[in-house]
Amino acid sequence: MSNFPEKFLWGSATSAYQVEGNINNSDWSKCFPAGKACDFYNKYQEDFVLLEKLNQNAHRLSIEWSRIQLQENTFNEQEIDHYRNVLQSLKQKGIKTMVTLHHYTNPLWFTRKKGWLSYRNSLKFVDFAQKMAQEYHGLVDFWVTVNEPSTYAAKAFLEGSRPPFKKNIISFVRVVKNQIKIHKKVYQELHKNHPGIKIGVAKELNFFEPFNEKYFWDKLFIKLANYLWNDYFLIKTKKHLDFIGLNYYFHNKIKFLRRYKDNTKEKSDLNWEISPQGIYYVLLRLKEYNLPIYVTENGLADKQDKQRKEFIKNHLFWIKKAIDKGVDVRGYFHWSLMDNFEWEQGFEPRFGLVEIDYSDFSRKIRPSGYYYADICKNNKLI
Ligand code: BGC
Repeated sequence: MSNFPEKFLWGSATSAYQVEGNINNSDWSKCFPAGKACDFYNKYQEDFVLLEKLNQNAHRLSIEWSRIQLQENTFNEQEIDHYRNVLQSLKQKGIKTMVTLHHYTNPLWFTRKKGWLSYRNSLKFVDFAQKMAQEYHGLVDFWVTVNEPSTYAAKAFLEGSRPPFKKNIISFVRVVKNQIKIHKKVYQELHKNHPGIKIGVAKELNFFEPFNEKYFWDKLFIKLANYLWNDYFLIKTKKHLDFIGLNYYFHNKIKFLRRYKDNTKEKSDLNWEISPQGIYYVLLRLKEYNLPIYVTENGLADKQDKQRKEFIKNHLFWIKKAIDKGVDVRGYFHWSLMDNFEWEQGFEPRFGLVEIDYSDFSRKIRPSGYYYADICKNNKLI
């Protein structure tokens, strides 16, 4: 197989709440405490040495809003300095930076004032984003406003499984709309003050596939699912995106208007079906938007590291196919650099290229991590 495009970004991703530790004032802190997580807050330098060792030339991470704004209308200078040191440390190593501003968590004061349900309150996120851009503009190559807007809104406001645990379709729709409005506002404000800044979103796309191509209702269902889950946010924000970030994990086969459990598919430790070819189809779908694309997340829970190597290989194979078909994919960030706090599932699922021993926070690169490192080095599949 030929090389990936020149200057392709090879990296991995994390998010603050999942790795940093000691985040005590977010809406997750009380209901799903992550404790010391991976102690990344203190160990980031050690972890960036690992990035170098793994030949990664880019890294995606998030800034924890509740650290920067412990209270409304104030900014914590010490934490601002902390993240400056983190970003500088990546830059000194020549590693490109992608920074997510909202990765599921919110400061408690923000949630208490209705969070994303209120547009007026959501404007607080714009203030935060402006401050971050002002502080770190030269240190950040790519900004991601929101990670997985559809998942955030669905789990927290419709399904009720994540804070603030609402099960209300009207609330859900309101949050979706506010996220869109706020994304656009952040885009406009940041572009006004920082020409050349690059802003996108990390959008989760599923590959929806009919069991039977000829069954009208399944095809209709898939059209709707594609529109509502995959496209809606992007259609509404496409004039306010410099790139699209794609998070790809799921494939859904639909039979008689229901999800069909595909027993032919291999499963990860979380029982998620693995479907590498699906990424090809979702990338073709994204081609329509005519924007550069970065795969901002893709990975699996695999404690024994038995499937990860093949997983990476097969997904990259299909990404390359999409590139050869003219899709402008410019980078791949594996989820995740290291094992971490997998939200309501806790620490058991292991998504890392690097294994964490939670008893002493030591790190150990998994064989699949070395395999991926060879790809990063050669800029091609091996
Ligand atoms: C999220 C990550 C999460 C990963 C695996 C993505 O949906 O952005 O925070 O850990 O999936 O579940």
